[in-house]
Amino acid sequence: MNRKIKVESPGRINLIGEHVDYNGGSVLPGAIDKKVEFLIENIEGNKCIIESRTINKKFEFEFSNLKKSNEHWENYIIGTVNNLINKKKQTISSFKCVIKSSLPIGAGISSSSALISGLASGLIEINNLQIDKNEIVDIVSDVEHNYIGLKGGIMDQFTILNGKKNKLIQLECYSRNFNYVNADFNDFQIILLNTNVEHNLADTAYNDRVEECNNALKIINNKFNNNYSTLCDVSPHLVSELKNILETKIYNRASFVINENQRTCDAAKKLNESKFYDLGSLMYKSHSGLKDLYEVSCDELDFLVDLTKPFEKILGARMMGGGFGGCTINLVEKSFKNEFIEKACKSYKDKFRIDLTPIEITICDGVKIKNLQTD
Ligand code: GLA
Repeated sequence: MNRKIKVESPGRINLIGEHVDYNGGSVLPGAIDKKVEFLIENIEGNKCIIESRTINKKFEFEFSNLKKSNEHWENYIIGTVNNLINKKKQTISSFKCVIKSSLPIGAGISSSSALISGLASGLIEINNLQIDKNEIVDIVSDVEHNYIGLKGGIMDQFTILNGKKNKLIQLECYSRNFNYVNADFNDFQIILLNTNVEHNLADTAYNDRVEECNNALKIINNKFNNNYSTLCDVSPHLVSELKNILETKIYNRASFVINENQRTCDAAKKLNESKFYDLGSLMYKSHSGLKDLYEVSCDELDFLVDLTKPFEKILGARMMGGGFGGCTINLVEKSFKNEFIEKACKSYKDKFRIDLTPIEITICDGVKIKNLQTD
């Protein structure tokens, strides 16, 4: 049977709860209206044909010859297909796939996970495979870890697959328990500011943080004779005691993660109670921790966050995503939006000689699939 489908796979924001997903903690993300789009159809023969209209590249491969490519972007595709066929032992037909994207790459809004999650969902649909969303999350993680080299958590793919219009997802990453929280900020709205910088070594530094947190957990479990499954199981009350057993850098990482997890739970509560000022101050605290304790910020991000502090009509701001560049997320009074964007763009350009890109977003549904043709 020949089928043709269109898949829309969104990016994500994260209101708060950064670098806690791979530590098993809570995050507060939502899928957004910027997305990667795929046209996928099954075709005769042995070849699969992939074309990206965004980066103007095309390549072909056969299932019998699936190996890692020297072209980085091809590995997103090869990894996804390989996981379905070889790890999940599924049979899939040859296909043609055309990709285009309105998600800026390297902006910390998850263009990578959107690409892999969208392709995996599309191939599952067009081949009528029985694979549930949790398994897709695992497939995407595996591609990111083993083909792309980023040892990330599950926040991005989980959000992209489970996103819901006007809702944030309060997700506990270890258990994958979640509930939807109204993304209703009353007179305020979310504005992203893309620094348009992506400092190199970001991936290495990210993987270093993962390892540092794993080390912290091992030491804590040894010393306390305990069996915490994740760093986020450690209570914030215990943080001061950790000072005696962890070297300073590892202590800083652990204390950030444990407190950020608590801040996320507090933020979800404040959002539910429409206590937006409290929410804003949690965002600022999150940024300070990311900057000083977790050390994943950079001058451009710090500058943009500091810039918002004198304005009463901005409740909170912080860097978002992995860090070392990408976007800040800001909670801004709607009536102040234009003035804020203008001021931020001007100051940023004066300081760094780089154009800032403001991004307005709405919170949307996760991956959507539309049938275009069946014969
Ligand atoms: C990246 C990773 C996520 C998460 C964030 C930081 O976006 O892909 O898994 O760790 O960084 O919160």
